[in-house]
Amino acid sequence: MSTAVAHPNIALVKYWGKRDDALIIPATGSLSLTLDVFPTTTVVDLDGSADADEILFDGVPATGTAAARITAFLDLVRALAGSSHRARVDTRNSVPTGAGLASSASGFAALAVAAADAYGLALDERALSRLARRGSGSACRSIIGGTAIWHAGTDDATSFAEPIAGPDLGMVIAVVDAGAKAVSSREAMRRTRETSPYADAWERAAAADLVAMQAAFAAGDVAGIGELTESNALRMHAAIMGSRPPIRYLAPTSVALFDAAARLRAHGLEAYATADAGPNVVFVCAAADVDIVRDALTADIATGRLIAAHAGPGAHLVEASA
Ligand code: PMV
Repeated sequence: MSTAVAHPNIALVKYWGKRDDALIIPATGSLSLTLDVFPTTTVVDLDGSADADEILFDGVPATGTAAARITAFLDLVRALAGSSHRARVDTRNSVPTGAGLASSASGFAALAVAAADAYGLALDERALSRLARRGSGSACRSIIGGTAIWHAGTDDATSFAEPIAGPDLGMVIAVVDAGAKAVSSREAMRRTRETSPYADAWERAAAADLVAMQAAFAAGDVAGIGELTESNALRMHAAIMGSRPPIRYLAPTSVALFDAAARLRAHGLEAYATADAGPNVVFVCAAADVDIVRDALTADIATGRLIAAHAGPGAHLVEASA
């Protein structure tokens, strides 16, 4: 039995668009912070006599696309290990699944680490990052603790995440809606690339933002990091909204929370907003300011919907197979 824990990550420069759908090679690189909240715990146990994988999500058998994605991922691990054994996968998420709070990132990072151990693969951090990427692109960054850069690369070997040094950052998550999103990021990425007239402009801008973000990280410039983060998120959402039929993840409350970030800054607090493929908004600030930023946001959203987070660990085994 192999048990692994992984945490979600939030990108400061977003990944949005695939150059290769099968291998999940992104059009551009991205950069993120792995958090210390909402862990996913996954247990993988091999069963030599079963003829199908058994997959449980919070104790409930998974079906449909969710189950198919996990079986496809396990097939990949089996191919690497030269094994035909089926597995029992028991995964527990403390993130609202599919709400744009990166549950697929923590989920596939935990699964990659647990399955690699269960199937006897000795993989280093880079190999685990490449493996997790095949489950869900952003999962390659949750293998890494704290701040991570995902090099887009051009093939399986060159597309992986690794740590990047920078200032100590924190985040405040504002949960606008914990329900599942209407359009999956997979489908929305494809539609953006195929139908949005802004897709090319987004990819050029994201590549330039990544270069500027690395410079801001090297300089320890929290305000510069925040400005790039907020602008990069709005550019991604602009490209998404240009799709046809249109996709819009930001709700009126989400937009109001971007205004709240501007208000905090007008009062001298360095806080910046970002949002993934859903209505929830995440505020980025210096780690030391997390509690002040959270308290300053209670005028905008109920206290129970604000979660303070800091840099968390990379995906790791908590119990190795015998
Ligand atoms: O890894 P996916 O397919 O869940 O896509 C993640 C996309 C965003 O969260 C919107 C951006 C990112 O870089 O995490």
